[in-house]
Amino acid sequence: MIIIKSPQEIEKMRASCEIAVDVMNVLESMLEPGVRASELDRQAAAIIRDKGARSAFKGYRGYPANICVSVNEEVVHGIPRDKKLEEGDIVSIDVGVEFCGYFGDMARTYKIGNVNGEKARLVEVTRLALSDAVEMARPERRLYDISHAIESRAVSNGFSVVRDYVGHGIGARLHEAPQIPNFGKPGTGPRLKPGMTFAVEAMINMGSSDVRTMPDGWTVVTEDMRPSAHFEDTIVVTAEGPEVLTCQRRKKR
Ligand code: CO
Repeated sequence: MIIIKSPQEIEKMRASCEIAVDVMNVLESMLEPGVRASELDRQAAAIIRDKGARSAFKGYRGYPANICVSVNEEVVHGIPRDKKLEEGDIVSIDVGVEFCGYFGDMARTYKIGNVNGEKARLVEVTRLALSDAVEMARPERRLYDISHAIESRAVSNGFSVVRDYVGHGIGARLHEAPQIPNFGKPGTGPRLKPGMTFAVEAMINMGSSDVRTMPDGWTVVTEDMRPSAHFEDTIVVTAEGPEVLTCQRRKKR
């Protein structure tokens, strides 16, 4: 069952999403060759604590860090390490926050220093795949229109989608129904309704879609060790269309 949120609940999600955005903006500003993922994690923890919020990830099924940092062939769930980021890396940062009982979840992939060619194209295509998918989140559409949009953008650009991990409903829990795969048949799945809230996740691999989990029990890497990118937004379906709650371009108020 997909839970429809009240306007009051959506306001609470808006608050947690704003904190996630604040964290992401600061982490983004720290990114340069030589910075360590573990430093990003510590900074994220400090900001989340200062805002009176809580990391949605820390302790989740025993996850040991506050954020996920996935570098190059790492797909998702990278545990932040002490190793320095290097020029030419692509780095996916995933931030999840709980505030006043409601969750916000977002991810962005960034280029460290100069990144070009196929790696840069992968990042751009994944960003566009998420934006295509979010566009589908409106009452005249069905759930797998969102999924299909991600797959379509990936495949038409010669890339593949991750099949073993999914986007998800979100609200008073980090993970709610439904699961939102990165592939699907358009025009199928549950009808979308105003008040549904989703964490839509585009996860795209340059090579094969196959992934495996590292011995740390968390870090997911591509089987062929080619790069992967990840963009995620928390959104709400409204009568007028999608609203992105984890938007980094701040609305004036
Ligand atoms: Co998520």
